[in-house]
Amino acid sequence: MLPLELEPLTDTEIAHEGRLRQLIVEAIQSAGGWLPFDAFMQLALYAPCLGYYAAGAHKLGAGGDFVTAPELSPVFGRCVAEQCAEVLRQLGGGDIVEVGAGTGALAEAVLSELQASGQLPTRYRILEISPDLRDRQRQRLSALPPSLMALVEWIDAPPPDAYRGVLIANEVIDALPVARLRGSSQGLLALGVELHDGNLREASRPASKAEVARVADMDVELADQQEIEWCPQLSDWIISITTSLTAGVALFIDYGDSRRHLYSVDRPRGTLVSFHRHRIHNDPYVNLGLQDLTAWVDFTAVAEAGLAAGLEVAGYTTQACFLLACGFDRHLARWRDQLPAESAPLAARSALRLVLPNDMGERFKCMALARNYPDTLAGFSIRDFTETL
Ligand SMILES: C[S@@+](CC[C@H](N)C(=O)[O-])C[C@H]1O[C@@H](n2cnc3c(N)ncnc32)[C@H](O)[C@@H]1O
Repeated sequence: MLPLELEPLTDTEIAHEGRLRQLIVEAIQSAGGWLPFDAFMQLALYAPCLGYYAAGAHKLGAGGDFVTAPELSPVFGRCVAEQCAEVLRQLGGGDIVEVGAGTGALAEAVLSELQASGQLPTRYRILEISPDLRDRQRQRLSALPPSLMALVEWIDAPPPDAYRGVLIANEVIDALPVARLRGSSQGLLALGVELHDGNLREASRPASKAEVARVADMDVELADQQEIEWCPQLSDWIISITTSLTAGVALFIDYGDSRRHLYSVDRPRGTLVSFHRHRIHNDPYVNLGLQDLTAWVDFTAVAEAGLAAGLEVAGYTTQACFLLACGFDRHLARWRDQLPAESAPLAARSALRLVLPNDMGERFKCMALARNYPDTLAGFSIRDFTETL
């Protein structure tokens, strides 16, 4: 990636950045001078009151750092609702749990569409880690009709009580901290961060036995200097958020690929990137707490985590195939008809980005993990790539 000039920070942002930087410096010192990358990323994104998701950065949308599918067009949520409606119908009703709901755009579109199709869930629960995004969700969803808003509940931890229904997580796995590994002629290296003249600097250490074993388990052979990321907490996280789903489907949508494609030598530097004010760059050690850090999802690992959680892979496909199978054309036509004639063409162009192959259509994938749900899922009826995992 070419070096890119980043936008200057305001004085308030500089002060915020400095506080988080100090916290990370202290963490490096107390770890003996080197912090593994996933521990750094955990602090950069989630340190209480300072991390990117824990503090008040605008994050999603035009005034923020990046745009997600639900922000781009409500057609995305309408298609997701169609898949939810099918599952709720087969189960004879149930709940929806959305993990990491961003600004509430997906919840708004899903609930409105499910009301229109007469298939509302009993409850729509949101598990959100970010206090300020929770506030934005509350504000946005309070504009829904009171009968819909009455279904929405915020929860602080995965649902403790058994439920049937659908769990949705759009672009959440890519926000979980990743560890970074590099192949080398001296053996596998773990990447992390150290202090150099008071600044943060990338540094490597020989990988631990557990990391070497993990790479062997993944059946990955790294070329010299090839870098990859993997998410150490993925399996526990998937187990924890799906434990109380007794019957139904968990839908994970994110940019990612099967392991053998993700870790191919065609991506010698891995997939970790930083987003700041809609600019994408590859320096995670600047703009601390003010920029998003994210890496592509290893969907083979998601499937393995699902199996460890006692779930079955019920489908894996591209976002384009999923949305098209969930009535994308029909939802887009209806959305256009609801808009004033002058804004319809622009809105349609935004919606098309969801399915275009060189945009979100193929980079993003959708995986369904099911428990006690024997029926097929409409969203995977065009192509199911499960065998490629
Ligand atoms: C990239 S944003 C995607 C937001 C939204 N799903 C969308 O597509 O617009 C990631 C979201 O996941 C939330 N998040 C990250 N880690 C989480 C976790 N462990 N539990 C719950 N929410 C989490 C963030 O606060 C944020 O709302």
